Amino acid sequence: MKRMLITGGAGFIGSHLVRLFVNKYPDYHIYNLDKLTYAGNLLNLKDIEEKPNYSFIKGDIVDGVFIIKLFEDYKFDAVIHLAAESHVDRSISNPLEFVMTNVVGTVNLLNAAKHIWKNNFDGKRFYHVSTDEVYGSLGEDGMFTEQTAYDPHSPYSASKASSDHFVRAYHDTYELPVVISNCSNNYGSFQFPEKLIPLFINNIRHNKPLPVYGKGENIRDWLWVEDHARAIDVIFHQSANGKTYNIGGHNEWKNIDLIKVMCRIMDRKLGRAEGTSQNLITYVKDRAGHDLRYAIDSTLLQKDLNWTPSLQFEEGIEKTIDWYLANQIWLDDVTSGDYLKYYEKQYVSR
Ligand code: NAD
Ligand code: TYD
Repeated sequence: MKRMLITGGAGFIGSHLVRLFVNKYPDYHIYNLDKLTYAGNLLNLKDIEEKPNYSFIKGDIVDGVFIIKLFEDYKFDAVIHLAAESHVDRSISNPLEFVMTNVVGTVNLLNAAKHIWKNNFDGKRFYHVSTDEVYGSLGEDGMFTEQTAYDPHSPYSASKASSDHFVRAYHDTYELPVVISNCSNNYGSFQFPEKLIPLFINNIRHNKPLPVYGKGENIRDWLWVEDHARAIDVIFHQSANGKTYNIGGHNEWKNIDLIKVMCRIMDRKLGRAEGTSQNLITYVKDRAGHDLRYAIDSTLLQKDLNWTPSLQFEEGIEKTIDWYLANQIWLDDVTSGDYLKYYEKQYVSR
């Protein structure tokens, strides 16, 4: 049985990946290592927590001694590393936390993998999940390819860029069998309502203002989270060592246009007169260092490994809004902080 470590599995993308792997690969044992920061929520994994091939481990990747011991005890064959501080606005207020988790935490994992795998890398793999934000900002034209030079602007993207460099350095220096993917903005169920889409769905629901940064003219390329998890699955199993793949939706939206689409759908679903939710739009001070445009060229992934997104955005955003409206208890627990009690109840008192 393959012993797989997935870090950050209680977060947004991690929980989708853990669910996919636990259900699809009964012959793998999936160990989900997560510190359960404000962004980690075990309620995201309630449907699979009793599966025999799944275990949760609470721990901090910044604690190097703990990480080495964990790898010695469990002898993982593979790592898919998602644990990170992931919100640009938080990185502007507290950059050091991003350096600790995203850079030091990643190097701790690389060291532990190198330590237990020694020089026998047969069947081993270290997969680092990264972001397109490392490439910086585009003007009106062009797309990020795997060859685009790194040019991060926010403390978040600078910390992810740094972690990517360390992962490549461990491949080039120690021949560690690594793979990296850089993905565009994800959307879907179980995303913490501080990022644009779930925050605005929640605010519309409560008739609260929708804070649009600057003029709302920034552009993001949105990918359905389950398509990201599918891409990771394909790359994890089929990529050559040392490769990098870009993952994206070919789905660019100017923020303000996306917000207006969400408002229209929400008006319909909430039985409000058309235009009601749009009145909540409030233009606020722009984010410092706000990247204008991201767009990912994922041709290489399509060509090499035959991956394409499965869902059109129009269907995906409808599905996503439906999910948050059907799971208002999840949203309320997350916004009130009640989800933090679940770990105590489920794991500590057992
Ligand atoms: P998230 O913030 O929802 O989840 C991060 C998870 O990491 C949480 O469960 C948190 O508890 C855990 N974590 C944080 N610090 C930790 C630590 N020190 N030790 C152990 N666990 C810790 O993030 P996400 O949106 O799911 O992103 C996951 C990964 O994908 C990140 O590496 C991010 O950079 C990358 N990514 C995200 C997006 C996106 O649109 N969300 C796009 C591309 C890449
Ligand atoms: P976000 O979801 O934070 O992702 P990222 O910054 O990693 O792309 O933001 C997406 C876009 O939405 C980005 O251009 C910033 C903008 N935004 C707002 O206008 N208002 C908000 O309240 C938030 C959270 C984001």
